[in-house]
Amino acid sequence: MKKIVVANWKMNPETPREARRLFAKVKRTADRLRRIAIVVCPPAVFLSLLRPGKNLVLGGQDIFNEPRGAFTGSISAAQIKYAGAGHIIIGHSERRRLGETDELVNKKVRLALKTGLKVILCLGETARDERSDYLRALRGMLERDLDRVSRAEAKDLIIVYEPVWAIGGSASSADTPEDFLEHALFLKKVLAAGFGQNLALSIPILYGGSVTPENAADFLGRGEAAGLLVGHESLRADRFNVILRLADGSA
Ligand code: 13P
Repeated sequence: MKKIVVANWKMNPETPREARRLFAKVKRTADRLRRIAIVVCPPAVFLSLLRPGKNLVLGGQDIFNEPRGAFTGSISAAQIKYAGAGHIIIGHSERRRLGETDELVNKKVRLALKTGLKVILCLGETARDERSDYLRALRGMLERDLDRVSRAEAKDLIIVYEPVWAIGGSASSADTPEDFLEHALFLKKVLAAGFGQNLALSIPILYGGSVTPENAADFLGRGEAAGLLVGHESLRADRFNVILRLADGSA
């Protein structure tokens, strides 16, 4: 299966001009790569300015949990789709920190899937404990977030294991590839209980949290990650393009 690399630009850059320039640099590299799928998730206001390519599609960073109505400041699943997104990040820790519960994440997940968006569901623990109690919490999170998602809909899921403590640092702040693999297998088991073994095996599990050109190959190799979710390094085209080439196997 092709590796998936997702760029989460978060609330960057500031101007449309910078967004176009960054995207153009990434696209030039993407055009030469054949063995990866790339999803760039800019702020929603930039979506309609950027033209996706064959292996480079667009995604949103969040949607509201209702399909339409009097919700000042919010963006619906359908609106983000019409703006050009084929994917949507849901449940990012930076949204959960603002008070987003699993119940809301679940509403958004089901709404997005019904709208025909592929869901990039993020989850991870804020801290680990010696008795591994956090694993139970992680399982509960995944179960609640995917509650009432059908098997047919589950085909459009991408899961990102993104430990919150690993976000926003240098290569050494990241989890280890071995640890990632262990947690990805754990999440697969939870998925298998809900959707069956075969379907669970087909749902990609990505790693996120301080991915850099220095550690990307190890997560994809030793960590057997199906792909990567890249935050701050996706804002530096030269460094992000190295990650793309590594994931493509052509670096
Ligand atoms: P960093 O790559 O900056 O750690 O961000 C990770 C992240 O939150 C991606 O969504």
